[in-house]
Amino acid sequence: MGPWSQNDSKKWIESEPQSVKVYIETYGCQMNEYDSEIIRAILDEADLESTDAPEEADVVLINTCAVREHAALRVINRIHEIRRLPNGAKLRLGVVGCMATGLKKELGGNRRLPVDFFAGPDSYRLLPGLIAAPVPERKNRFALELSDFETYAEIYPRRQGGVNAWIAVMRGCNNFCSYCIVPFARGRERSRSPRSVTDEVRRLTGEGYCQVTLLGQNVNSYRYEQHDFASLLREVSRVKGIKRVRFTSPHPKDFPMHLVEVMAEEPGICKHLHLPVQAGSDRILKLMRRTYTRQDYLGLVERIRTAIPGIGLTTDIIVGFPGETSAEFDDTYALLREVEFDAAYIFQYSERPGTLAARKYADDVSGEEKSRRSVLLNALQNGISLKKKSARIGGTERVLVEKSGTRKSQLESQGHTDDNHLVILQEGRYAVGELVDVHIHDATAHVLKGRPAE
Ligand code: 5AD
Ligand code: SF4
Repeated sequence: MGPWSQNDSKKWIESEPQSVKVYIETYGCQMNEYDSEIIRAILDEADLESTDAPEEADVVLINTCAVREHAALRVINRIHEIRRLPNGAKLRLGVVGCMATGLKKELGGNRRLPVDFFAGPDSYRLLPGLIAAPVPERKNRFALELSDFETYAEIYPRRQGGVNAWIAVMRGCNNFCSYCIVPFARGRERSRSPRSVTDEVRRLTGEGYCQVTLLGQNVNSYRYEQHDFASLLREVSRVKGIKRVRFTSPHPKDFPMHLVEVMAEEPGICKHLHLPVQAGSDRILKLMRRTYTRQDYLGLVERIRTAIPGIGLTTDIIVGFPGETSAEFDDTYALLREVEFDAAYIFQYSERPGTLAARKYADDVSGEEKSRRSVLLNALQNGISLKKKSARIGGTERVLVEKSGTRKSQLESQGHTDDNHLVILQEGRYAVGELVDVHIHDATAHVLKGRPAE
């Protein structure tokens, strides 16, 4: 760290005539949403106020995602946009999160962005000091160190309200899949104690949250002394007042049967799994360093579906990994057709600096071909999703109401089924947090539509 400190921060904050307002803009995954809640709690503690309006802010923090180049470019545009706001020249601008580390290297030499400071995912406690540091000539400052221990376990995030609360139970990743920047951006795996998690869940129920989603880059690698992810999940699902427990994202390599059994046995654990497969070809899976084969994955899906009939399954796919041939893409296509996921998120391979794939393999599938492959997979998946959703028309589904509101002058609310299908609730009045049985009368590839069941 530089010469600035929490004391400087207090001095700066106290010397400002009005309260100092911070605006946070969040990109990327749920973990980043959660991290922004942690950051808000840290700023609160330092008497820094939050604002939802960048034009009113004294400080802007952009919480970034580095997983694909596209996300990184958007952030760079956004930095320039913010500097062009009427208050843009004088506000203090920080880039935090996953892009912070990579940007330093990418910028290198004399190139710099109009950013005052960068803070990586393990440096959020330093933010009040970074914010308050003097900025004589707008020099970039960096707080990028990654930690083997930081979990922010004792910081109670400042959440936005609603039904669902995110809780990170582990951070970082030790897998080093060859395409993935996360181990570089977020460092090594570390888990927080089950006690700190269940205490937080108890506190959340007292505040009206009735669903928790346990987060980790590799959530089922959770390990704390003799506790594993299955035991943590069981404990959380038994906390009084929690109606639903979800988690994301597990890795197929760490999926023991006893975890499947816990999911089958505990009524509070949602019957949904987001289980990224990434590819259907064994050669590509190997180059990706996923450590399972197509057959291993299919076997796991079969065991899960036998133990938990009707479980909702979703996945992530990358198309156009270096060297992926048409025949290998066909293997992914066939896997998607065979498994019939409820939803699949299709990504085009994006080379990330520093990863094994970037160092070893040429990004040689053309942009056109990547987009052709993703169009084909999306079309296949849309057909499957529509078929599966349509099969529910005429049935009854139990929905946890997450939003209640009006649209087009009609009352329209929404929620999810236990197996994670989004349901638009037409007609009727619903209270947020209520579990209701609804009659499904229509469906698209992406949503079910329901009315109150008679
Ligand atoms: N290019 C494209 N997609 C990627 N993902 C991760 N890294 C990359 C990359 N370099 C996808 C994976 C992962 C999801 C969160 O993002 O499918 O599961
Ligand atoms: Fe989330 Fe990964 Fe993106 Fe970071 S790089 S925001 S961990 S998806």
